[in-house]
Amino acid sequence: MGEVEIKKRIEASRSRVTKVVFPNTTNHYHTLFGGTAMELMDETAFITATRFSRKKVVTISSGRIDFTQPIPADTIIELIAEVVSIGKTSLEVKVDIFQEDMYEENTKEKSISGVFTFVALDENNKPTQVL
Ligand SMILES: CC(C)(COP(=O)(O)OP(=O)(O)OC[C@H]1O[C@@H](n2cnc3c(N)ncnc32)[C@H](O)[C@@H]1OP(=O)(O)O)[C@@H](O)C(=O)NCCC(=O)NCCS
Repeated sequence: MGEVEIKKRIEASRSRVTKVVFPNTTNHYHTLFGGTAMELMDETAFITATRFSRKKVVTISSGRIDFTQPIPADTIIELIAEVVSIGKTSLEVKVDIFQEDMYEENTKEKSISGVFTFVALDENNKPTQVL
C-alpha cells in the first residue's frame, strides 16, 4: 500500500468521541476518574484501529498516559484518536482528551494524552498483517 493510501486511511480512521463528565464518572475530588478516562481512551483508540485495519484487533499495550489537567464534573470532553505508527501486525494509536467549559467560549484545552498499541488477529487469533 502506497504512502498516499496510508495517509488517506489515517485520515478516514481518525475518531472523535464527545461526552459530558456527569457525576457518575467522577472521583471524590469531583473530577473525571482516571480509570474512566483510560477506558474511554482504549475504546476510542480501538475504534480507530478497527477503522484503519478493518480487522479484528486487540489491545496489547498502553504507553505512558499523561494527566496534565484535572477535568471537573459538568464539563464537555472530546477524545480524538489517530494512528501514529504502523508495524507489521501492530499499530499505535494516540489519544488526546480535550476538555471545554459548557458555557464559556474558547476554553478547549488538552488534558490527557496517551498511546495504545493494537495487534491485528486472524481467524485463529494469531497476529496477522495490519495492512
Ligand atoms: C495479541 C497476542 C495474540 C499477540 O501474541 P504474541 O505472540 O505476543 O505476538 P507477537 O510477539 O507476534 O507480536 C505481535 C506484534 O505485537 C507487538 N508487541 C508484542 N508485545 C508488545 C508490547 N508489550 N508492546 C507493544 N507492542 C508489542 C510486536 O512487536 C508485534 O508487532 P509487529 O508485528 O508490528 O512488529 C497476545 O499477546 C494476546 O492475546 N494478548 C492479549 C490481548 C488482550 O486480551 N487484550 C485485551 C482485550 S482487547
